[in-house]
Amino acid sequence: MVRLGVLASGRGSNFQAIIDEIEAGKLPAKIEILIVDNPNAYAIERAKKYKIPYLYINPKEYSTKDAFYEKIRDELLSRRVELVILAGFMRIVRKPLLDAFPNRIMNIHPALLPSFPGLHGQRQAVDYGVRISGCTVHFVDEGVDTGPIIIQAAVPVYPDDTEDTLAERILRLEHKIFPEAIRLFAEGRLKVEGRKVKILDYKNPDICFTNPEIGK
Ligand code: GAR
Repeated sequence: MVRLGVLASGRGSNFQAIIDEIEAGKLPAKIEILIVDNPNAYAIERAKKYKIPYLYINPKEYSTKDAFYEKIRDELLSRRVELVILAGFMRIVRKPLLDAFPNRIMNIHPALLPSFPGLHGQRQAVDYGVRISGCTVHFVDEGVDTGPIIIQAAVPVYPDDTEDTLAERILRLEHKIFPEAIRLFAEGRLKVEGRKVKILDYKNPDICFTNPEIGK
């Protein structure tokens, strides 16, 4: 059983996918706290529904960005969180949090990294004209979406796709690979070697896959 702390800024559908896997008994994890940086984040409603403790931390109340992350770090450590989940957390994580959780912070990004890092990964893919995009779960380092990659999944990009239609297709796979990555962590099967993540006793072909039927 791994103790999770989830950070989110908005809708929280990835947060929900993780809750669903835990509720179904398929993910040996417990969410100790949801922390949001936005008081209107719908993720809060999801936490309430499942009686998950939540906390709004207002970045404007801190004189520096580091102080904001020190506060988040202290809240996570006080609850003995082992793995931090960035589930649509729209900020760049800084040193105080990174140092407290080395290779213990996971992010989901809506593109096949290292392509299209940063904001609006789906829009960047549509604008660039790629034929395939997808999503990536990775450990967080000091860069923007540069950390060691755990799982990726690919989807086709069709000529008539918009940012929204592509985002919807990608999201369906985000909801599969994020819980899967957490499961691998919980099972002690992820080993970071340099910038590569080794998966111990790897058998599940879902760790790197494409699903051409998604969205059709
Ligand atoms: C997801 O598509 C996630 O990949 C993306 O924000 C969305 C959050 O949705 N994250 C980023 O772009 C991080 N840079 P959700 O709140 O419904 O999980």
